[in-house]
Amino acid sequence: MYDIHSKSTHRMTGLCLTDLVVVPMDGPETSPLGTVRSASIRVQGDRIAAVGDLSPDPGEPIIDCSGLVAVPGFVQGHVHFCQTLFRGLADDLPLMDWLSTRIWPLEAAHDARSTEASARLSILELMLGGTTTAQVMESTRHTEASFEAAAESGMTAIIGNCLMDLNQGEGKLATTREEALHLSDELRRNYHGRGRLSYAVSPRFILSCSDGLSRDAAAFATEHDLRIHTHACEHAEEVDLARQHTGSDYILALRDQGLLGARSGLAHCVHTSDAERRALVETGAAVLHCPTTNLKLGSGMAPIEEYRALGLRVALGADGAPCNNRLSALGELRQAALIQATRRAPGAWPAEQALFAATRGGAQALGLENELGSLEVGKRADIVLLDLRELEPGGDPVSRLTYSAGDQHVRHVVLGGEVVVRDGEHTRWDAAEIRAHAVDARDAVVRRAGLGA
Ligand code: GUN
Ligand code: ZN
Repeated sequence: MYDIHSKSTHRMTGLCLTDLVVVPMDGPETSPLGTVRSASIRVQGDRIAAVGDLSPDPGEPIIDCSGLVAVPGFVQGHVHFCQTLFRGLADDLPLMDWLSTRIWPLEAAHDARSTEASARLSILELMLGGTTTAQVMESTRHTEASFEAAAESGMTAIIGNCLMDLNQGEGKLATTREEALHLSDELRRNYHGRGRLSYAVSPRFILSCSDGLSRDAAAFATEHDLRIHTHACEHAEEVDLARQHTGSDYILALRDQGLLGARSGLAHCVHTSDAERRALVETGAAVLHCPTTNLKLGSGMAPIEEYRALGLRVALGADGAPCNNRLSALGELRQAALIQATRRAPGAWPAEQALFAATRGGAQALGLENELGSLEVGKRADIVLLDLRELEPGGDPVSRLTYSAGDQHVRHVVLGGEVVVRDGEHTRWDAAEIRAHAVDARDAVVRRAGLGA
């Protein structure tokens, strides 16, 4: 029998996870959980080969998972690896001040080394919390460092350099329109389709882009069939500025620039008009819901229940560490469910539906549903194994996952067939070293940004 506590190799050709409670998320959208049942899961290569009442084959490596709950690897639709170093450096500010006084100067002070340190710390935290897939908006430069860290980690990552050709705040964060497109094409050529990586065209938000850059970005995405990732309608002040900037409703302006479509994801969408909601429905764009960020920056509570009623796809995201300050998928799941209970009514967006957004619904929103998001034969073997026994008495697994569980309950994580987290620790990456590098890099960035105490 394979003993996960003593084995030093991590990539296995086969693996049997025995004696689980499986939450497959393979049901119809009206009841997406599927049948929650006691079962074992067989992994072959990077795929799920079987789910059911299995006996391990002779010689097959086994992880005895009795007492554990299995869910699909969490999917986060909107994060910023490059901001994780800035956790705690921008508390207690509304969006536009938060950006202009802290985040833009700090991002402008990044170099490749600090970007890599930030990306590694982000990925470590995401994986320890069970996130195996993320869509990531990085800064204007050094995004190759984030791609390299993601490539080494094995996670599924859709990454883009943010596009900014309008100068805002202090520092040299913005590029020219030409440079933004040049950097984008270089990243696309080097990383799009490499392993589990893909490239997303990422205009930061409407205020950071000239009309010309936004239209070029849309054409570039169409030419290469790329995803589009942006922020929209996050905060009332930003929405007013967007109206002054474009003379139109925010999301209608994005549509007119060609940035809305089935491959688009818009982070936040807190303040939207009926016409904007219709535009989202007509174009098939997805909403990337970041509940904790919206609370922390005082932006408001997004009308997710209404978006779901309109049939829009919704993913969850922790956004950036300086506006959250955690990167926890389970944390966002809990916040998302609680906020809709307060906005509408308890049960308006039930636990099962919120869990769907954290897994298969998130995969749908990112165009990855055929590949991952549920525990089904043929899908990628991205599996989170949680020990929820400490939450006793605690109701059924869905209640525990949505309302009670935290990252501390994630015991093992299987990523494309590889056990990357074992007993709460990364099997390949040295967490202490990553955190130490992050602290050094943070100090250097703060010095360069001139924001030291
Ligand atoms: N809008 C434009 N840039 C950002 C960002 O980095 N974070 C958030 N939350 N909103 C933004
Ligand atoms: Zn964001």
